[in-house]
Amino acid sequence: MRILIIGEGGRESALAAKLQKDSRVTKMFFANGNATTDAIGKNVHLSEIKELRDFAIKEKVDLTIVGPEAPLVAGLKDEFKKHDLKVFGPTQKVASLEGSKAFSKKFMQTYDIKTAKAVVFDAYNDAKEYIQTQQYPLVVKASGLAGGKGVVICETLEEAEATIHDFMIRRVFGDAGIRIVIEEYLQGFEASIIAFSNGEKIFPCIAAKDYKKAGKGDTGPNTGGMGTVAPSPEFTQEHYADFEKNILEPTLKGLKGEGFSFKGIIFFGLMVTKNGAYLLEYNMRFGDPETQVLMALMENNLLDVIQDCMNGKDLELKFKDEKAVCLVMCSGGYPRNFETGFEIVGEDKVKHSQLLYAGAVKKGDAVVSNGGRVLNIVATGATYEDARKKVYEDASHVHFDYGFYREDIGKF
Ligand code: AMP
Ligand code: GLY
Repeated sequence: MRILIIGEGGRESALAAKLQKDSRVTKMFFANGNATTDAIGKNVHLSEIKELRDFAIKEKVDLTIVGPEAPLVAGLKDEFKKHDLKVFGPTQKVASLEGSKAFSKKFMQTYDIKTAKAVVFDAYNDAKEYIQTQQYPLVVKASGLAGGKGVVICETLEEAEATIHDFMIRRVFGDAGIRIVIEEYLQGFEASIIAFSNGEKIFPCIAAKDYKKAGKGDTGPNTGGMGTVAPSPEFTQEHYADFEKNILEPTLKGLKGEGFSFKGIIFFGLMVTKNGAYLLEYNMRFGDPETQVLMALMENNLLDVIQDCMNGKDLELKFKDEKAVCLVMCSGGYPRNFETGFEIVGEDKVKHSQLLYAGAVKKGDAVVSNGGRVLNIVATGATYEDARKKVYEDASHVHFDYGFYREDIGKF
């Protein structure tokens, strides 16, 4: 099989490393890939959907796996389907469950999926009037894709006023912010549940915990994810049963009700409060860095799982009875301004973990940083502490100028 993976993060490296072990996989292409995928297959520099389509036709690609949301929301699946190219992922319409927060909130409300109370606004004056009457903190979200920066937790009315002004009048996210969702603030802990859909049913993986804030003890700005653990130590069997009943089952009903059958990933971003699990968002793709810990624990052959989904077969997902920890090493300054192009050294001293590059590319014989989240160090162990020790021991040998990471990933 010839496989094309779209994306260039640690998530794509983890998928590639898992698929690489399969003897049926004869060739892997990555657009655009990174230093890990460069060693596994061929990185190609393509970004337009039409270019990717032409490439998949020319290279006789049997299966395309899409890492990030943007190509799905832009209609990659629809375009590939016209040419009988197989894609593991939803059509543009179904990807709107991630691409439009207004659309997904309406879907959640229609199908009684447990979520924060929210109202959608298209008119600035209506939104401005509404926020005068609300309790704080209040959550303001740009409806469209805003690179993970479109959600603001507003502590005060003044902050909410400034945020809706930024989104709707100043248009800091362009068209993504002209429609907004204003919702109640939920207090609790977050959990990520990534699930496989075979078009008929949804099969969840174990819950993962993502560390979203840049600083130790969950301080500082939000990031794309500074680390993960799986299984989530906080997400109990009771939470799981609650999730299944109040979120998973009604979601499936909604997907059927809307004719949104798809073969791919549905990722539930949850907030668990004292009143149980609430759905914050759907992502219609693998999570990053959740995928890294899930792939480390998954016992199934990933290609079998994907093919079974594509063929509408039921899955029996199995995960090792161990703990996995993933640490993300970042460029100094991330998630704000940072420089790239620094050589990474010490990889040869990583002995107990898997090193997956993310924003890092080969340059001659060296590997240099080229993104905010530069590389991941992933290990498993009998306890979180076992896995954590391996990760941090290995991380201490890997260096690049101004690199940093959180010290408390997997510490409970
Ligand atoms: P979203 O993209 O909707 O998942 O939001 C991004 C992040 O904002 C989430 O991972 C949460 O940390 C936070 N967030 C979103 N909605 C809420 C909410 N209703 N209450 C509290 N925090 C939220
Ligand atoms: N780690 C969260 C995400 O992939 O959206």
